[in-house]
Amino acid sequence: MSRHLRLGVNIDHVATVRNARGGGHPDPVRAAEIVARTGGDGITAHLREDRRHIRDDDLKRIQDATDLPLNLEMAATEEMLKIALAHRPHAACIVPEKREERTTEGGLDAASRHNHLMSFVDRLGEAGIRVSLFVEPEARQIEAAMRLGAPVVEFHTGAYALAEGEDRARELARIADAAALAAKNGIEPHAGHGLTYDNVAPVAAIPQLAELNIGHYLIGEAIFTGLEDAVRRMRELMDEAR
Ligand code: PXP
Repeated sequence: MSRHLRLGVNIDHVATVRNARGGGHPDPVRAAEIVARTGGDGITAHLREDRRHIRDDDLKRIQDATDLPLNLEMAATEEMLKIALAHRPHAACIVPEKREERTTEGGLDAASRHNHLMSFVDRLGEAGIRVSLFVEPEARQIEAAMRLGAPVVEFHTGAYALAEGEDRARELARIADAAALAAKNGIEPHAGHGLTYDNVAPVAAIPQLAELNIGHYLIGEAIFTGLEDAVRRMRELMDEAR
């Protein structure tokens, strides 16, 4: 229970604000530097097909600016694979991607997309990139990750974040059960999506979880209190829950 829970900060939405005006400000690289000196354990960035936030040239700039491990979220497409192999981030989290969605609305169906995913997991793994699959907290997805040989799964916490009362308790139990099952089978469980100061503690208390990836809320809070303050506060809440 005392094991350090890593905080990966997703800086996509710094780029969203930048892109709203088409210039260079605010620069997600500056956000990455602040995360690095404020106790974040990693930088997470999602290069989407439509480049609505992070863009190709941001990846190298982020990698050059900090020593923190980069977790590249990517769809399982040949285009993204080529970019991942060129940049060799520490980790690649394969996410489902729909052009029309506002955010990653659900987990990857690793169970029914085995054949398609296999070659991506293999080629990323052969390049020394730690592969993670962003899935719903369900036994069948963990079993699929095992068959694929993925070393990490990240559980989509969106349903938990949106639920209230008993529904929230049920969603939390699904994440806790899934984390225990993954860990028992040698897969490192991570979690993320929709986590805030108010809902992070019960998730952070799940002992098997090794990493949380948090973005939108932290960048939103940073508008009011600054990114250093937001990262520090989230870090404190995670540590207290542990
Ligand atoms: N983890 C993954 C795999 C994601 O795709 C995202 C962003 O959609 C996050 C974590 C962070 O979610 P949020 O921005 O809601 O904190």
